[in-house]
Amino acid sequence: EFRLGEAAKAYNVLIGAAIEPAYLQEKAYADTLKKDFTVITPENRMKWQFIHPQENQFTFEEGDAVVAFARENNMQVRGHALVWHIQNPTWLTNREWSKEELSKVLKEHIHTVVDHYKDDIYAWDVVNEAFEGGSYRESIWYKTLGKEYIEKALIWAREADPDVQLFLNDYGIEEPGVKADAMYNLCVELLEKNIPLDGVGFQFHMDLHQPFDMPSVYKNLKRFADLGLKIDITELDIRMLGTPTEALLALQAQYYGELMDIALDLDALVSFTMWGFTDKYSWVPGYFSGQGWALIYDENYQPKPAYATLAHNI
Ligand code: XIL
Repeated sequence: EFRLGEAAKAYNVLIGAAIEPAYLQEKAYADTLKKDFTVITPENRMKWQFIHPQENQFTFEEGDAVVAFARENNMQVRGHALVWHIQNPTWLTNREWSKEELSKVLKEHIHTVVDHYKDDIYAWDVVNEAFEGGSYRESIWYKTLGKEYIEKALIWAREADPDVQLFLNDYGIEEPGVKADAMYNLCVELLEKNIPLDGVGFQFHMDLHQPFDMPSVYKNLKRFADLGLKIDITELDIRMLGTPTEALLALQAQYYGELMDIALDLDALVSFTMWGFTDKYSWVPGYFSGQGWALIYDENYQPKPAYATLAHNI
């Protein structure tokens, strides 16, 4: 029986999927994960909204369930995400904070969550989606704390766990452009200041009808790797419009395969993680109207053509 994760071990690349612990009750869901994946990301359960629902309350049960499943099945866990502009609890977003207050709240959050998952998680997305185009996103964090919130978050995460890898994660930085440049420049600045930063996560939410230019993607990822950073494909999916035809599925398969080639060519690449694995539970239809079929297994847990190209190219 072919197993993606086992096969990719020869290249030191983890094969990953975002998961929801509630679905683990479904046998086909759990079995497919066990067969093909060597790393999992909690799709939602470690986000503020779920893990820190009240100012004085942390709820770790669901995140712990993800970690327990990973442990039982010899998988790694990628932590997602310590700082983001959405999926935040209302106690956080519904009031004005002074710089000192918000700084204290963020520090406590990062210390508590990172400490709780110390030794369970190999990498954290410390700051998610800090940029909007080439500029810093006007998030609650940026508006109140200034761009220093990024370095502070990295420092606080390092204080809580000296070993975990610390990542910045974003979309729209896969190809060269203003946003990729903004991320690159930030990385250079952080490294020059000796701020703890281990890697950059590239989300890779791709539209089949507007595919990335693969040689440009390779070049762009390589320049981050050349800074001495790890790189990670963190949320790959390739969505399509309308009902999937054989031709569309073949094109999707081709792009998945090309991305695997790029991944295996980059020594600094840690994981090839998809944002789910079955079309049954993909975030795509809920967020991109009329689009879907973005993953490598169909709704019935049958491998799609994309699975075959991944397997072939590993
Ligand atoms: C998405 C989840 O998949 C959805 O279930 C949730 O409703 C919203 O968030 N970029 C990210 C992820 O970094 O956390 C997002 O996940 C998808 C886009």
